[in-house]
This record gives sequence, structure tokens and C-alpha cells, in this order.
Amino acid sequence: MIPLAIPDLSGNERKYLNECIDSTYVSSVGPFVNRLEALIADIAGAKYGVAVSSGTTGLHTALTAYGVGRDDIVIIPSFTFIATANAVSHCGATPWLMDVKADSWCIDEGQIEDELNRKTEVNDGVVIYKASGRRVAAIMPVYTLGNIPDMDRICTIAKAFNLPVIADAAAAIGAEYKNRKCGELAECTVFSFNGNKTVTSGGGGAVVGNDEQMMKKIKHLSTTARVSSEYDFDMVGFNYRMTNIQAAVGCAQLERVEKLVDKKRWIRRRYRELLDGVQGISFFPEPVYCNSSCWFSGVVIDDADHEKVKDICSKLKESGIEARTFWKPIHMQKPYENSLKADTLQTTDTLWSKILTLPCSTNITDSEIVTVSDALKKVLLNEY
Ligand SMILES: Cc1ncc(COP(=O)(O)O)c(C=O)c1O
Repeated sequence: MIPLAIPDLSGNERKYLNECIDSTYVSSVGPFVNRLEALIADIAGAKYGVAVSSGTTGLHTALTAYGVGRDDIVIIPSFTFIATANAVSHCGATPWLMDVKADSWCIDEGQIEDELNRKTEVNDGVVIYKASGRRVAAIMPVYTLGNIPDMDRICTIAKAFNLPVIADAAAAIGAEYKNRKCGELAECTVFSFNGNKTVTSGGGGAVVGNDEQMMKKIKHLSTTARVSSEYDFDMVGFNYRMTNIQAAVGCAQLERVEKLVDKKRWIRRRYRELLDGVQGISFFPEPVYCNSSCWFSGVVIDDADHEKVKDICSKLKESGIEARTFWKPIHMQKPYENSLKADTLQTTDTLWSKILTLPCSTNITDSEIVTVSDALKKVLLNEY
């Protein structure tokens, strides 16, 4: 089987794991945790980094630190992995779902501005959703597949409404925006190191940012808000710590981040070359202003629906290829059926069901990419 996305653990992973065992530092304190925090901050272009147990818990902690709480509203795109919305719900808040743009698959900044202007009013500096009287507390754009939305505009809108911007950059390590690194663009930025990401720590995540006080708060909240070893706590904190074992794997991966991201970009280029000219498909978008980190590769099957794409996946599976459909939007998910929505989610509605993701592990070979491309051409020729 050519898998969809498995990790490449050929660096120092084993060596560092042995060091954890030899030193007995296997739990949530240890030198690799500190090292990972310094590494991710540097790679992302931020001053501070906090290691956490997952991308989801990083988002939850960051939202909490920025004051998002019960009955608040947080603006997110509907086209995202469910964890973005879940992090909002874990705060007791409600997502306000926006559409994405076809040229980036990222949140539509024009729609954010329009919806805020029409549906909210500002009372004493607080943005109130007029229909419910609830507070709008933050904007959380997603850096979809390593693409970045128009962050200049999003930050200008956020400033005008006095809202913090917390970026869900779960899969965007290595992405750049107008020659700036992806961790420099929002108040704070959250990464996932889940097993299918470009860089993994088995499971884990990190929050990066430049505001020292806020980043200290995020560290404090994520480590049970403990103030001393005498069982003293000053807030309702979370146990969202990354273990030294996870960080050992993460450090070995982060040491090779450039190579891993380059490989992801190369995979994207190779599929494009090999599938160029095939009728009925188009490619994943990459906005010109950003250097996408190309987390996943694949194609859009122009006239397909979800069932057709599932069918293509089954046919590819018969040839030993793991291909998959992609994110079903949040507004179509049971827990979010009654969420707040923008007036139109047209691009999201038509886009998601046509996406086919193809094998793109960082250790995939050129001949495997050729095999996948040939198999896909054959399926498309026979079926459509
Ligand atoms: C956009 C997005 N946000 C959040 C997450 C959650 O990360 P984790 O699985 O580490 O909790 C993911 C993971 O795939 C993601 O793709």
C-alpha cells in the first residue's frame, strides 16, 4: 500500500527517545520540551513557543488566554478540520462560520468585514452580535494546507473591531506570507504535530507568539496553572503538557524541517507535472503572495460529488493506493448544524466534495508518485 501521509522517522528520533529512557525524563518536564519550544519559535518567526499536547489543546488554551469564554462568538472558516470549531466549543463559545475563497481555500476576509459591519454593533469597545446580544471575542483564520489568507486585511479588520487574531496553523509549518514567516502574522499561532503532519511528535502541538505576558499565561494555563510545588494553583488550568518523549521525536523532526517542507513542495510539483493536461481535474490553489507549505497534495475532480470521489478512492485502493476525501465543512457536521453562519457559504458548499487527497508522505519516492498518477489517470479515463 502507498500510504496517504506517514512520518519519516529516519533522523535522530530513535537516539533522542533512548536518551529519554536513559535519563528517566519521560514525562512532561525535560530538556526536549524546552528545546522544542525554542526550535518552533525560531522556525515560525516568533519570540516565544509553548509546547502542548495537541493542536486542539493549543487552540483551546490560546483562546482561553485571550479571554474567550462562555457564550462568546469566534469567527472561523466553515471549511476546516472539526478541531478548529471544537476548540471554540471547549471554551463554551460558538463558532461563527465564514466562507473560504477559491484561490486559497482560506477564510474570506471580505465576508468577515461585511458580516461584522452588518450583524454587529460596538458598545463600549465590545463587539456585540445584534441578533443574540452575545460578544464576538476573536477571529481564528485557518492556514489551510499551508496556504495563508490575506492576513494584512484580516489584521486590519481585527484592529478596527478590537478583536484578537489567533491563527490555526495546524498544518502550516514552513509556510510564508509576503516573505514573513507564518508565526509572525497573528497575535498567536498554533501548530499541530499530529502523526499526519509535515512534522510530528507522535501527538502534540505548539503555540507561538511575541507577547511575553500572553505566552507566559498560555504556558501557565496549559500546565495546570500551578504556582508552586506546594499544590498551589491560581486559575482553572489544563493539563495540556507535551511529554519529553513526544518532544524528543518532535525535536528530531524539527531539526529537518526545511528538508521535510521542501519535500512536500516537491511532491506537489511532481503531481502537477505528471497530471498536467488531464481532462476534468484541477489543482490545489496556492496564492501568489504566499509560499505554501503544501501539507497535502491531490486534485480537485471538477464535476464530482462526494460519492464519486469516494468511488475513486475505492478504485485506487484496489491498486494499493491510499487516497482520501477531504474535510467535510463544519456547518454540515452534526454538532454544528445550528451554528451561526455567514449569509452564504457558496465556495465551501461546492468545493469540499470534489477534493481528492493523494499519497504525500515525506518519504514517498518519485516512482511511487508516478504509480499514483498513472493509476489515477486510468481510473479517470475508465470512469469519467
Ligand atoms: C486545521 C486543523 N486544526 C486543528 C487540528 C488539530 O490538531 P490535533 O490533531 O493536533 O489536535 C488539525 C489537525 O489535523 C487541523 O488540520
